[in-house]
Amino acid sequence: MSRKILVTSALPYANGSIHLGHLVEYIQTDIWVRYQKMAGNECWYVCADDTHGTPIMLRAEKEGITPEQLIARVHGEHARDFAGFGVGFDNFYSTHSDETRDCANDIYGKLKAAGLIETRTIEQYYDPVKQLFLPDRFIKGECPKCHAKDQYGDNCEVCGAAYAPTDLIEPYSAVSGAKPELRSSEHYFFKLSDPRCESFLRGYTSSGVLQTEAANKMQEWLGAPGENKLTDWDISRDAPYFGFEIPDAPGKYFYVWLDAPIGYMGSFKNLCARNGLDFNEYFKPDSTTELYHFIGKDILYFHALFWPAELAHAGYRTPTKIFAHGFLTVDGAKMSKSRGTFITAESYLNTGLNPEWLRYYYAAKLSASMEDIDLNLEDFAARVNSDLVGKYVNIASRSAGFVAKRFNGQLAPAAAELPAIKAIQEAAPRIAELYEAREFAKAMREIMALTDAANQYVDSVKPWELAKQEGKESELHAACSNALNLFRLLTVLLKPILPVLAGKVEKFLNIAPLAWAEAQQLLAAGHGINAYEHLMTRVDPKLIEKLVEANKESLAPAPEQSSPQRHAEHQQKEAQAAAGDEAQCTIDDFMKVDLRIARIANAEHVDGADKLIRLTLDIGDARPRQVFAGIKSAYDPAALIGRLTVMVANLAPRKMKFGLSEGMVLAGSDLTGNTPGLFLLSPDSGAQPGMRVK
Ligand code: 2FM
Ligand code: ZN
Repeated sequence: MSRKILVTSALPYANGSIHLGHLVEYIQTDIWVRYQKMAGNECWYVCADDTHGTPIMLRAEKEGITPEQLIARVHGEHARDFAGFGVGFDNFYSTHSDETRDCANDIYGKLKAAGLIETRTIEQYYDPVKQLFLPDRFIKGECPKCHAKDQYGDNCEVCGAAYAPTDLIEPYSAVSGAKPELRSSEHYFFKLSDPRCESFLRGYTSSGVLQTEAANKMQEWLGAPGENKLTDWDISRDAPYFGFEIPDAPGKYFYVWLDAPIGYMGSFKNLCARNGLDFNEYFKPDSTTELYHFIGKDILYFHALFWPAELAHAGYRTPTKIFAHGFLTVDGAKMSKSRGTFITAESYLNTGLNPEWLRYYYAAKLSASMEDIDLNLEDFAARVNSDLVGKYVNIASRSAGFVAKRFNGQLAPAAAELPAIKAIQEAAPRIAELYEAREFAKAMREIMALTDAANQYVDSVKPWELAKQEGKESELHAACSNALNLFRLLTVLLKPILPVLAGKVEKFLNIAPLAWAEAQQLLAAGHGINAYEHLMTRVDPKLIEKLVEANKESLAPAPEQSSPQRHAEHQQKEAQAAAGDEAQCTIDDFMKVDLRIARIANAEHVDGADKLIRLTLDIGDARPRQVFAGIKSAYDPAALIGRLTVMVANLAPRKMKFGLSEGMVLAGSDLTGNTPGLFLLSPDSGAQPGMRVK
C-alpha cells in the first residue's frame, strides 16, 4: 500500500543567498523525496522562505525598499537557485502568508487556552538611536571571558564562550554604533518548562524519532529525570518588527522561531488548497500519514523540543522523524569568503558547472549521521569524471551508435540471465533500503560496483571489435542491446540523484519516466530507441578555478545581517585562536611591513561590490598600484581623489573577482562602536608619495 508522506527542508532566511552549504540539505531531501515518489508513495515536499525578523527589516530599510519587496526579490532568487539544482519542491512558499498567519494564531490560541503561555517583563538592550530592541546578534562588544573585541552578544567566536548580551564589556549596537540601554518590556513566553511539556518531551525524544546522537543530546538538554533543564521560550518581539502581530497583544509580534516551523504547515496548507488535499488528514493527532523534517544539526533544539511540544499541546500530530545532517566544509575547512570557498548556488550555475555533478558528489558523501561532509574540489572533479562519465555514461556511448547504424535503432532481446543484469535486479531492493535509510554514500558504492560489472561485460564482448568482423551481426546486436539494458537499469538506480540526466536517458531510450519497480524489467525485443546525444561532459578543472575566483571577496567584515539568534548553546564554535598568541610583534616583524605615503590618483565605485572602492595609488614610481578598499560605507570616491594616505606596499597581491588588489590602505575605526565610521590615515603636509612610513 502506498504511504502518504509529507517532507520538509529547513526554511532558508530571506535575507541571504543560497550557498553550497544550504544545498547539502536541499539535495539530500530532494533525493529522498524523489526516491519515495519513484517507489510509488504519495510524497509531498514543501518549503518556504523564512521571511520575518529584525535582520530582514533592517536590510530592506538599508536598501530603501519595503520588507515585502525584499522578500519577493529574494524569493525569486531562491526559487531560481533551487530549480537550477533540481530541487523539486511541490510548494516553495513564504512564511509571510495568510496560511502561516492563520496557523500561528491558531497554535498560539490553543497553547494559551492550555495555560502554556505567560507574560513576563524582561530587560533587553535597546538602541536609542535606531529606537529598537536589539537581537543578540546585533549587539557587539568585548568577550567577558577572553576579552576579544567585537564579539556577538550571544557567544564569542574566539574562545567559544556562551553568555548573555548584558555580560559583554563595552557593548555597542552593530546597527548604529550607539551604546545600548537596558529597557524593560513585556514579553510572551511558551512554558516549555511546564511539567506537561517535560514529560511529553522525555517520551517523545526517546521514542526513536531522532538519530541516536541527537537523542543523546536531548537527554543532556532535558537533564536527568527529576532535574528539568528546559527553560521557557520567549516568543514575542516588540515593534518595530517585520512579522505577525500577536492577535491579542498590539505592538507585540511573534518571534521568527514561532512562525518559521509553522511555515511548514502554512506551505502545506497552501498546497492542499491548490491540489485538493486534506490538510487535516496530515496534521490531525492520530494521522496515519508520515511527517519528516530534514534539518541542520544546529537547529535541533527547535525541531526536537519546541516544535513537537507546540504541536502536541495545540492538538496536532508530531513529526514522525527528524533527520539532522552535518555541516559542509570545503577542502577540509569552514567555507571562507576570502579563500573563495563560500560558494553561492548562483555562481556555481553561472560558471557553467553541471548541477548534477554536485548532486552526485554530495550523494557519494552523505549518510544518515550528523557528521560534517567535505567538498574536496579536486576529488569532486576526479570522482564525477571517473564514476559518472568514465563508468556510467560510457556504457551507453559505447553501444548506442551501433544499434542506430546497424540495426535501425531497434533492440535485440535482452539476456535476462546475464550475471550483470541479474546483479542489478537483485541489488535494487537493497539499494531501495539504503535510499530509505538516507545511506546515500553506501547506495552509490553499490551502484558503482554494479556499473563496474556492466563495463566488464561490455569489455568482454567488445562491440567495437564485433562490428569489424563479418558474420558477427547478431552477436553485436545482442551485446549492444544488453549494454543498453544494463544502462537503463543503472539509470533507474541513479534517477533520484540525477533527474535531468535520467530524463535525457528516457528520451534517448524512448521510454516512459522510469519508476523504481522498473529495475525488475527489461526492454522488449524490437524496441526502438532514439539517436544518442551526448549525456554528460567531464568536469573541466578550469571551471572550478573560475568558480573559486568568482567567489573571492574582500576581506572586509561581513555585514551584520546574519541569522537571528539561535539557542546560544548551538552557537558555540570551536576556539579559533589562542588569545594572546598574536599580542606582540618584534621590531623586525614590524620592519617587514613596507608602509608608504600614497596619493590617491583615482577612486571609483566597483560594479557588483557593496563595500569596495577601487583606488589607484601613486607611490612615487612609474607604476601606480591598484587597491580594493572596503571603505565605501564611509567615503564617496570623488572626495578621495588627490588626497594622501598610507598604504602597505608589500602586501602579497590578492586576486579578487574584480581584479588584482596590490596592497591596502590604513584606516582607523573604534572597535567599541562609540564613534562609528572609518577614518583613513593622512600624513602631515609636506609628505610626498613614496616616502617610507616607520
Ligand atoms: O536556521 C535557519 O536557517 C532558519 N531559517 C530555519 C528555519 S527552519 C524552520 F523552522 F522554519
Ligand atoms: Zn572570548
